[in-house]
Amino acid sequence: LQEEGIILKNHVNSSEITELFVEPKLKESLLHEAESLHSIPLTEVDLQWVQVLSEGWASPLKGFMREDIFLQTIHFNSIAVDGDSARKNQSVPIVLSVATDTKNKLDGVSSVALTFNNKPIAILRKPEFYYQRKEERVSRQFGTSHEGHPYIKIIANGGDYLVGGELEVFERIRWNDGLDQYRLTPNELRQKFKDLGADAIFAFQLRNPIHNGHALLMQDTKRQLIERGFKKPVLLLHPLGGWTKDDDVPLPVRIAQHQAVLDSGALKAEDTVLAIFPSPMMYAGPTEVQWHAKARMNAGANFYIVGRDPAGVPHPNKELYPDGNLFDATHGARVLKMAPGLDAIEILPFRVAAYDKSNSCMAFFDPTRKEDFEFISGTKMRTLAKTGQSPPNGFMVPAAWKILSEYYQTLSGQ
Ligand code: ADX
Repeated sequence: LQEEGIILKNHVNSSEITELFVEPKLKESLLHEAESLHSIPLTEVDLQWVQVLSEGWASPLKGFMREDIFLQTIHFNSIAVDGDSARKNQSVPIVLSVATDTKNKLDGVSSVALTFNNKPIAILRKPEFYYQRKEERVSRQFGTSHEGHPYIKIIANGGDYLVGGELEVFERIRWNDGLDQYRLTPNELRQKFKDLGADAIFAFQLRNPIHNGHALLMQDTKRQLIERGFKKPVLLLHPLGGWTKDDDVPLPVRIAQHQAVLDSGALKAEDTVLAIFPSPMMYAGPTEVQWHAKARMNAGANFYIVGRDPAGVPHPNKELYPDGNLFDATHGARVLKMAPGLDAIEILPFRVAAYDKSNSCMAFFDPTRKEDFEFISGTKMRTLAKTGQSPPNGFMVPAAWKILSEYYQTLSGQ
């Protein structure tokens, strides 16, 4: 039955995800303890990683990576922990960098407090400090060490040491930006899918506004699942909510845009859960797409949609490859299909979708009539929006375009 897709792979793995929050009755005394400890101040991106770890997206990780786990991650894209020999997918390092001075001062202490804006966030136990060979790390993670790459800049600006250790987090991370109600934890999502009576959950990761090509991937997945006999497939529409590069569309605008797509009926609101994935974006292509799928597997998804150039980014040296991109657009989906430790989630790869001028809609690219298709790039969308023009009919839900266009016009007014 599993072969036929009737019994879901993830059902074997449906137990609750372990979170890293302190027990409420211990919170007071641990906060007291934190006051007596040396502390390490977190950046906003660090705090996003604390949120990711504490809510269990990276389970079985129990904190920032120690060196052995870091090495397994960058060399094998997977980890074996707690004496369990089954390898779990873990393709991206989740690490905390510190300055050499901090390492010199704190090396050997038994615990350290982590703070954000002077507020205690967590205690990190048995800190293990180790040197970060930045060039080696970023070359493995990103396939380049070019400092024009947006996340490599963040790593370059961080300290030369990493500190690993188990985390005890005082409370849920909240951003108080009016969007916290969309930030559901893996356990909350699992409960929500149960409440909805879902018999299949298919996840869609995105960091861009939804155009009708994205919608096509989601609609086609639902069609395939119904064809396979599922009665109530539910879509986890899961925009990434952590740090993104400056020219990506900010989260509040994207959420309003996604909501407009749902309101239009292009995606059915009654079998969709719109929620925010708290991870920062790394632009690490085929390496990162594994992280995106693994985290959704932890949230209870059984199917993961992947299309063209997931987690892709232009190459900082545009001349290097003819397509101008850092990663081959087909590699993300191909790598994900073969990735280690993702057995509990089925990968659904899709061909590239483009604007079909002969039918005025987004459609899967057909190389036999390539002259009918137009690729509408992010840059083209920005130019149209900034100059108050509309994209061709059928490219995006009009109410959703309006939100984008207003955003870009306020930008160009600045
Ligand atoms: S990503 O960084 O989150 O991957 P984006 O929001 O652009 O970026 O993409 C979300 C998902 O849609 C990814 O699985 C990506 O591969 C897929 N995708 C984006 N555009 C297209 C397209 N034109 N055709 C097919 N798949 C696409």
